[in-house]
This record gives sequence, structure tokens and C-alpha cells, in this order.
Amino acid sequence: MDKLARLGVLTGGGDCPGLNAVIRAVAKSAMNDYDTTILGIEDGFEGFVQGRMHELKNADVSGIINLGGTLLGTSNRGDPWHFPVTGAGGQVEIQDLSDRVVDHYRRWQLDALIAIGGDGTLNISAKLSARGLNIVAVPKTIDNDLMATDQTFGHDTAVSIATEAIDRLHTTASAHHRVMVIEVMGRYAGWIALSAGLAGGADIILIPEIPFQWEAVYRKVRERSQHGKRFSIVCVAEGARCPEVGEIVKSYDVQRTDARQLGGVADFVAKKITEATELETRVTVLGHLQRGGAPTPFDRILATKFGALAARLAATRQFGMMTALHGTRVVPVPIQDAIAQLKLVPPDDPMIAAARSVGTSFGNECVSRPG
Ligand code: F6P
Repeated sequence: MDKLARLGVLTGGGDCPGLNAVIRAVAKSAMNDYDTTILGIEDGFEGFVQGRMHELKNADVSGIINLGGTLLGTSNRGDPWHFPVTGAGGQVEIQDLSDRVVDHYRRWQLDALIAIGGDGTLNISAKLSARGLNIVAVPKTIDNDLMATDQTFGHDTAVSIATEAIDRLHTTASAHHRVMVIEVMGRYAGWIALSAGLAGGADIILIPEIPFQWEAVYRKVRERSQHGKRFSIVCVAEGARCPEVGEIVKSYDVQRTDARQLGGVADFVAKKITEATELETRVTVLGHLQRGGAPTPFDRILATKFGALAARLAATRQFGMMTALHGTRVVPVPIQDAIAQLKLVPPDDPMIAAARSVGTSFGNECVSRPG
């Protein structure tokens, strides 16, 4: 008989649609199948270091499958090995407080911890596993940039929101004969831009994985104008690398797990297009709208499958593992496999070939095709 008396659960890193659906699935299946007490750790590893948690009852996790955000709170400043501590004079010092996590884990008498998060949370989870903590991870990120799983929950929702935004930009772009540049999230990976750009029929898609040249971008926009299509939609990933300047970093914050905050590339691209073509441009930065609100049915289903599997892995003592989607099946994989490297868009991704064949430019063609 599998046993799981006390189970901790936390959400770390940026929020993502579907987190509440995972918490619900973990808690309900552990309560139903193993009579487990669930401890919800507040604000990710930040709360773990600081010893903040409360028990989750069935009523706490009911009626939340459709809610965005996370009922536990989250933080991307909670790396226990790189923890910001504010001194009496207001200065911030980075300290290693990983011992506190181990202490709290023992004091709360946890049998296991379910850590739901992206690459930052997975890296911390792998290090804590090596310190002897029983951890099962659930991958989340709208960016879909984690190896070892075909897809992360949250990505489908972000792509849906970005696609709807492109649809809406199309009508106003064509009415005013403008070039609309839309910046979407994704960090160092172009999955959101590629998927939403393809689904929304963008004329140009710029992603970090495909180096682009300004001339190819200008040519595509000009050719569309010459063919009577007096508007264009450019979908640019926030991590796209502009010729000469590379990726555009909005700010640095050493307290964050990833100190670099990307942003601003759409403004840069729009300015260059206006200067070169004299066409009118407008910029839309979709930002956190891509992460807010209700998850899509796909993300709710994936999140529920991940949560139920995670509880089962914890009860059967399969620690150091992460839930993953392989085809249509959810399976356990070692956490290490997911963090070995980022999953970037490969040059031979079928979405790239399909987009090119309908005339979409990636800013690297010698001759553009009508689209
Ligand atoms: O990783 C998810 C993500 O939304 C990225 O796409 C984006 O670069 C980053 O988080 C934004 O982080 P924050 O919410 O801290 O500004």
C-alpha cells in the first residue's frame, strides 16, 4: 500500500495559466487516494526559505480549475542559494540560505514536495534532490522552452491570446495601411511568436533562433505595398536578436533567478521600418496579458494530468522525477533531463516550413515570396 502522509506543494517563478489546475489535481488526488495532508508553501522557494506555509483543505482547491494565477503565490526571487537579504541600511546582500529549506522540510515533516515551475524552479529542485529532499517536479512555462516534455501547460493559453491579438491588429492595420509590430513573450525561445504568428497569419515573424537582416524585412514590407497590400503584421519574439545590437534587455535585477528582463525589441524594429520605408508603424507589446486569465481547455487537461501523475510519483517514491508530455501520454522523466539545455525552435521545425510556404518571412530570405 502506497503511503503519503504529508505532502508540500509550491509554485515558483513567473505565474502561468494552469497552475491552480495542477495544485487542485495534486491535492485532490493525494487526499482521495492516499489520505494525505497537503501543505501549501507560499510564494515559491521564497516562502520556503522564510518558513511560510498553510494547510490546504479540499474546499481550498475546489472551483479553481478555471482560475489564472496561483492560489499559493509565486516569486522569481527565491533561489535559496542566491537569496536577497536586505540589511539594516537598506542594502541588498545575496546569501546562501539553502539550509533553511532543508530545516523547514524536516520541521514540517514532509514526505515529499511537489515543485511546480520553470527552469529556475527545476534547477533548484535538482539541487535540493541532491541534498536528500524527496522532490517531484511539474514543468510550467508559457515559453514552452523546457526539454524532455513536448509541451508545458500555459503555452497553449499564451498562444491563443497572442493569436487573438494578431487577429485584432489585422483589421485596424488594413484600415489605416500601417505596419503593425507586435512583441510577444518567450524569453530566449521563439515558440510563442512562431505559433501565434503562424496561426494569426503574420507577414513577418522574427524569433531568436533565426538571425534576420533588416533588408529582408524592409523588402517584404515594400513588396506587400507594391502588390496593393498596404499593411503588414510583424510578430516579433521579445528575445529576437537585431542585427548589430543583439537582443534588447529592458532591465537587470540581480535579485531575480534570471537577472535579465527582455523587452523593447518591437519599438526598435518599428523605428527601423519607418526610417527605411517611410511607412507608418505602430507597436503593441502584449506583455503579461499572455499570462493572465483563464487557461484553455488544453492547458487545464494537461495540468490535471500532470498533477495527478505527480501525486502518484510521490506516493510511489519516484523522486527526482518530473512529469512530461510525450505524444499524448504523460510520463515521468528525470528532472536533470529537462534542465540540461533550453528547448529552442529547431531550424527544421515544420511550423517554419509551413509558414514559409504561405509567404511568411523570417527576415532571412534572399528573395521573398508573395504572401
Ligand atoms: O518565463 C515566462 C515569462 O513570461 C517570459 O516570457 C518573460 O520574459 C518573463 O517571464 C517576464 O518575467 P516577469 O513577469 O518577471 O516580468
